[in-house]
Amino acid sequence: MATKILVTGGTGYIGSHTTVELQKAGYEVVIIDNLSNSSIEVLDGIEAITGIRPAFVQGDVCCIETLRRLFNEHPGIKGIINFAASKAVGESVEKPLLYYRNNLNSLMNLLECMPEFGVKGIVFSSSCTVYGEPDVNPIDETAPIKPATSPYGNTKQISEEIITDYITSGAPIKSIILRYFNPVGAHPSALIGELPNGVPNNLVPYLTQTAAGIRGQLTVFGDDYDTPDGSCIRDFIDVVDLAKAHVKAMHRMLDKEDTDAIEIFNLGTGRGLSVLELIESFERSTGVKVPYKIGPRRAGDIEKIWAIPDKANTVLGWKAEMPIDDTMRNAWAWQCRLAEKK
Ligand code: UD1
Repeated sequence: MATKILVTGGTGYIGSHTTVELQKAGYEVVIIDNLSNSSIEVLDGIEAITGIRPAFVQGDVCCIETLRRLFNEHPGIKGIINFAASKAVGESVEKPLLYYRNNLNSLMNLLECMPEFGVKGIVFSSSCTVYGEPDVNPIDETAPIKPATSPYGNTKQISEEIITDYITSGAPIKSIILRYFNPVGAHPSALIGELPNGVPNNLVPYLTQTAAGIRGQLTVFGDDYDTPDGSCIRDFIDVVDLAKAHVKAMHRMLDKEDTDAIEIFNLGTGRGLSVLELIESFERSTGVKVPYKIGPRRAGDIEKIWAIPDKANTVLGWKAEMPIDDTMRNAWAWQCRLAEKK
């Protein structure tokens, strides 16, 4: 029988791509999502790719009764991947309680239910934001955790601590914490991708919407950083590569006996790319020009950060493989498909 996995936030950007990879690897997926930042049609996209429609519960992970009902109605769930969280840095500064409530209550509810319902492991979506502005680059998992610069970032740090404290207390569960660098791109089929609500905050959706004429111009936030071309440097990782790492993590947690109860992995490519280099990659790979201007720095931005992904490469047996030009082409194909659907 297929191993059953609960994917919270499974109709979201990373959740939907991960659902596809889990199904392709033979797992049975149950999704819970409150659709606050995603659409039910994502299930059609998943089904069109894999031929399997995942079980879906519309509900909020912040409600423990909803969760208990889910575990009763879908018995035998062995693992959880927790994507259900709010992720806009700016919004978190304006609405801190919303972020603390949403991101922390949901996690604590899941942890509480795990022993009750015999769930063995949870993969948690953390972020490289926990490293703040690194003293040196690239960084591995032993780099110091810096004070968070936003409530969003703080929820990631606190979540990591909650999981660690719970497991240290003797809770009979395992966890793998994945610290994502900058996930970008879309599924090569263009059947699923990122669906930002309103004006995007993140670079790639803003870039593709500008290329599509939805936004007039992209603003590059600062060209006076201490980097070769003056723009910020990030480790842009393809969302399908990222999704595949979750499958490896789930397999390791559930099927290997001799692993630590809690493990942390950086998920990045090991390659730092500047904002201007990313725009160049987009233009080169799609042949589409992106109107952009240089603007002032964005408050709270980190100058440069990229990963040493060696631990994930060797221990998880996972490596980011998609060339950035292909990732940009996929992001563009998805943007074009969204325009067709309108
Ligand atoms: C941020 C968060 C990260 C979070 C991610 C997802 C921090 C420091 N980073 O990543 O933890 O997981 O969002 O929401 O909290 N840029 C432009 N013009 C734009 C948009 C972005 O130049 O219109 C630049 C930014 O200045 C930055 C880079 O592009 O240098 C990437 O920005 P973005 O996509 O927003 O991601 P991060 O800020 O790196």
